[in-house]
Amino acid sequence: VPPPPPAPPSFTGAKLVDDRDHPWRPLRRGDIRGPCPGLNTLASHGYLPRDGVASPSDIIKAVQEGFNMETQGARIATYSAHILEGNLVTDLLSIGGKTSRTGPDPPAPATVAGISNHGSFEGDASMTRVDAFFGDHTVFNQPLFDQFVDFSNRFGNGFYNYTVGGELRFHRIQQSIATNPQFSIRGFRHITAYGEAAFVANLFVDGRKTGANAHHLDMDSALNFFRDMRFPRGFFRPSSPTAAEGADIIFAAHPTQPGRNNGAVNSFVVDTSMGGLTDPCTFYVQFVNTTVRALYPNPTGVLRRNLIINLGFFYDALAPPNCPQVFPYGQN
Ligand code: HEM
Ligand code: MG
Repeated sequence: VPPPPPAPPSFTGAKLVDDRDHPWRPLRRGDIRGPCPGLNTLASHGYLPRDGVASPSDIIKAVQEGFNMETQGARIATYSAHILEGNLVTDLLSIGGKTSRTGPDPPAPATVAGISNHGSFEGDASMTRVDAFFGDHTVFNQPLFDQFVDFSNRFGNGFYNYTVGGELRFHRIQQSIATNPQFSIRGFRHITAYGEAAFVANLFVDGRKTGANAHHLDMDSALNFFRDMRFPRGFFRPSSPTAAEGADIIFAAHPTQPGRNNGAVNSFVVDTSMGGLTDPCTFYVQFVNTTVRALYPNPTGVLRRNLIINLGFFYDALAPPNCPQVFPYGQN
């Protein structure tokens, strides 16, 4: 039976996390990494299994311990990823591509393809990764990082902050609309694109920075995380639990609607059918009743039981306002 989500650690202040027990190590043959610079960093320091395959509980513990990620945000990200691309029977998830190390797959159309799988959690208009239409959407891309630096120079005096996030997030969407005929930012991706832009200012900034320096990320540290999957030397995690705070500021700079290009560049059509940042209840209901049911139309046995349990963890963490839980597989 999947265990309940781990509680936050008892101490949730700043502390050295680039410590003796968690040395950075280069990748070994077969180690898996993917599109998330946070999880990649935790694996390369041994907060997560260094091979890149972990249980949801491992991931929640690691993001809380290593980055002081706030527990609700940690649970939302982890259980959504696990439900979409993890193995619900073995309780294992790849932080990158598909691997036999998560165990025998349940029947298709389930994918169990790891968080790199394009179009489920991973999506377009990432800050430092190209859209899947253009190539490997999981690896660090230097020209996009150069653009990240350029925006940080122009709007943040050389630092990434919420103001930079507001400009860069919008620009990446406009860039994809203008260049990627298959561009899509609907439902979950419309939410994560803004959350992740906030993570950069909240979770990658040393916890000893306060006042005007809080939520300001220098470019050397950014490169450590995004490219090298490594804490800056002597890094302290944030001084209090945090996740997507500030995403509202980033969104408000240039509000957008969910939608997609219609097979050609510059053909963006609004599509709110899967919800989005401003409609969490539609997102939640469609996530369960459309996205998850497409992967698991008729689960049985342990698979069905674990789907119900994980969907419960997800709903409890998301707690969408005025939005009752839905039970496509029954309640137990
Ligand atoms: C991106 C998963 C925690 C920072 C992503 C993506 C996935 C993901 C699938 C790719 C989305 C995309 O850009 O297409 C998760 C899961 C987590 C988690 C399951 C479990 C709690 C974290 C943490 C941090 C973080 C703790 C920071 C310390 C980011 C950032 C991006 C990202 C900044 C955007 C990268 C970019 O746009 O270039 N994450 N993540 N994530 N994640 Fe995570
Ligand atoms: Mg992406």
